[in-house]
Amino acid sequence: MDKIHSLTGMLDLYEDGDSSDLSKNIFETEKRIKNIFSNYYLKEIRTPALEDTDLFKRSAGDISDIVNKEIYSFQDRNDKSISLRPEGTASVIRSVIEKKLDQSNHKLWYMGPMWRYERPQKGRYRQFYQAGVEILGYPEGAPEFEMVSLVCSIIEEFNIADCTLKINHLGNQDNKKAYCDALIKFLEPLKKNLDEKDLERLSRNPLRVLDSKNQDTQLILKDAPSLKEFLETKSIELLEAIKDEFSDVCNIEIDYTLVRGLDYYSGFVFEALSSNLGAQDSFLGGGRYDDLCSKLGGKDLPSIGMAIGIERFASLVSDTTLSDKIVSFITLGSILEPKTYKIAHRLRSLNKNIILDMQLSDSSLKAKLRRANKNNSEYAVIVGEEEFNNGTFIIKPLKDELKEQQTVSIDELFEFYKAL
Ligand code: HAM
Repeated sequence: MDKIHSLTGMLDLYEDGDSSDLSKNIFETEKRIKNIFSNYYLKEIRTPALEDTDLFKRSAGDISDIVNKEIYSFQDRNDKSISLRPEGTASVIRSVIEKKLDQSNHKLWYMGPMWRYERPQKGRYRQFYQAGVEILGYPEGAPEFEMVSLVCSIIEEFNIADCTLKINHLGNQDNKKAYCDALIKFLEPLKKNLDEKDLERLSRNPLRVLDSKNQDTQLILKDAPSLKEFLETKSIELLEAIKDEFSDVCNIEIDYTLVRGLDYYSGFVFEALSSNLGAQDSFLGGGRYDDLCSKLGGKDLPSIGMAIGIERFASLVSDTTLSDKIVSFITLGSILEPKTYKIAHRLRSLNKNIILDMQLSDSSLKAKLRRANKNNSEYAVIVGEEEFNNGTFIIKPLKDELKEQQTVSIDELFEFYKAL
C-alpha cells in the first residue's frame, strides 16, 4: 500500500524531539510567550480556523499576495467559499463586531496555526503558528509604547541576539495619498525597468513597490522621494521617542521604506528581523490598523497589533535560554510502592519551578540514568530497596562532576528540593 505523507510545507511537531529538531523549542517558547502576554494583562481569544473568504478579501486587501496567491480557499458542501485563516487579525475584528464588543477597549492575545500557500523554504511553511496580540479601542500614543515594550520584553526574555526592530509610520490617509502620488510620479518614467510584479504593485498599491525583492527596483528606489518628507512632525516625533526610550533594550532602527504585506495598516508599523534567519528574516510584525473595524462593518475602533512567527522565532532561541531544571526520580527493583509516588507528588508541590520526571519503566539503573542524562536532568533522586527500608534517598548530581552523591533522609530531601 502507498504510504500517506504529510502535506508539503506542513510540519509534525514533537515536544520531545531531539536537539536538531526545531519542534522541541516550539512548545517551551509558546509557554513562555503566553506568560509574557499575561504579564501585560492581555486576555486570550480563540477564533475558528475557517472563515468566510470575503473576510480576508476585505481585510488583507484583494491585491495583497496573501489573498491573491496564498490563501487556502475552497467551496464547502453548501457551495460557500470558505478559507483557512492566513492570519489572525481579521478574525479577531470579525468576532468583536459580531459580539458587539467593538464599542469598548480590549487587550487580546491568540496563538494558533495559520495557513498560506507559499513556496516552502527555510522558515516558510504552508501551515505555521503565530502568537498574536491585538490592542483594540485606543488611538495612537500609549498603545504604541506598550506594544514596543512587549516586543522588547519578548526579545529580552529569550536573549535574541543579532536582531533589529525596524519601525516606520505610514502617515494618515492624506499623507499616504500624497506620498503614493509622488512615488507614482517618480516611477512612471522608469516603468520599463520594472518587472511585471512591481508594475502590478505600482498600479494597484504603489507603497508595496518599496518592498520589492528585485535588486534593480531597489537601486531605482534609492533616488525615490522619502516617505519622511510627507509625514507630520508628530509622526516623526513618535518614532524618535520610541527609539529613544527602548534603544537600550533592543536595537531599534527607523526605516522610512518599511511597508507591510497586508493592506489594512496605517500609522505606526514595525517588523523584527534577525540576520540569523536567512532569506525569511522577519520573525515578528505588526502595526496600527485604525480603519479595519469600520471597513468590516463595525464601529470606529482604533487598533494596533502584532504577530510572532513561532517557527522562525523558536529557531532563534537557544536551548540554554530554555533549559529548565529537571530532576529524575528513579525507583529500583520491585519498589512499586504507592508511597514513592506520594513522595514525588509532595516534591512537585514544594517547588513548582522544577520539572520532576518520574521514571515509569522497570528498566535497570543504568538505563534509567541514561534517560536522566538524555533529558538533561540536573539530579537523579534514587530509591532502591535498601533505601526504601531505611527511609533514605540518594541524590546523584548528573551535571557537575565535582559534586558527590549523598544519602539523605526524607526531610533532608524535601529541604534540598525546595532550595533547588
Ligand atoms: P505578517 O507579517 O503577515 O503579519 O506575519 C507575522 C509573522 O508570521 C511574520 O513575521 C513571520 O514570522 C510569520 N510568518 C508569516 N508567513 C509565514 C510562513 N509562510 N511560514 C512561517 N512563518 C510565517 C500578520 O500576520 C499580521 N496579522 C500581524 C498583525 C497583528 N498586525 C496587526 N495585528
